[in-house]
Amino acid sequence: MGEKPKISIENMTKVFYKKNRSVTAIKEISIDIQDGEFVCLVGPSGCGKTTLLRILAGLEKPSIGNFTISQDKEDRPLQSMVFQEQGVIPWLTVEGNVAFGLNMRHLPKDVVKERTSYYLKKVGLEQFSNLYPKDLSGGMKQRVSIARAFANDPEILLMDEPFAALDEQNKFILQEELLSIWSETKKTVLFITHSIDEALLLSDRILLMSSQPGKIIEEKVIDLPRPRNMEQVRADKEMADSFVEIWNHLQDEVQSSRN
Ligand SMILES: Nc1ncnc2c1ncn2[C@@H]1O[C@H](COP(=O)(O)OP(=O)(O)O)[C@@H](O)[C@H]1O
Ligand SMILES: [Mg+2]
Repeated sequence: MGEKPKISIENMTKVFYKKNRSVTAIKEISIDIQDGEFVCLVGPSGCGKTTLLRILAGLEKPSIGNFTISQDKEDRPLQSMVFQEQGVIPWLTVEGNVAFGLNMRHLPKDVVKERTSYYLKKVGLEQFSNLYPKDLSGGMKQRVSIARAFANDPEILLMDEPFAALDEQNKFILQEELLSIWSETKKTVLFITHSIDEALLLSDRILLMSSQPGKIIEEKVIDLPRPRNMEQVRADKEMADSFVEIWNHLQDEVQSSRN
């Protein structure tokens, strides 16, 4: 502790203006995330999770407040993002997609080749490197996005419900693949999910958001030993209690937003 956080968000508020209306998407959010930490952001739909991630990705500007991402290596991108869907470029092959960011940075061909095939192997796509996205399943497309994000070697990874559209079996497999790559690379990850199970499995720490305007209302450290899998999460008494606690919080938030 006492070290400089990898991501520091200070008193951030975002207001959207639409014609004569304004929407406060997030309000006075302050978060510090340490280097190598895996943090999940959980909150009801519409509470501003994507907005916060888009701000960190540089796609939106905060109305108030600021953030910093500490840059350890100069020649590396600040952040890579993985979305729920549509993260692959349709006219590039699997390999081309994973190599895309590296090629944009004009890295030497052999470095691109090596790094691309390393991460393709990690997500089990090496035999599919010449396929195009139209020939891939949803799970395979998400694997491509994850391989690309890690291959870019960014300072931090931002993931917005990357597994939300997948079936349960695929989801479990991808969650474990992600954890395996993460444990090797020790990247700082901010991961959005509305699945409490997923947050318990993946996180060092869970941040719970209120309904609109999104604020951080609760923080939970998850100290289940790693490597983890979903069976362990389901079998652990403390995790079961955490599940209920988070569940109740979310219910309250959804309820209060209705009133
Ligand atoms: N570009 C935008 N213009 C206007 N309103 C927006 C825009 N983006 C998001 N919002 C609004 O901000 C709120 C939070 O949205 P979002 O960040 O997508 O929530 P979440 O990802 O938690 O479901 C919603 O009410 C949404 O309609
Ligand atoms: Mg969202």
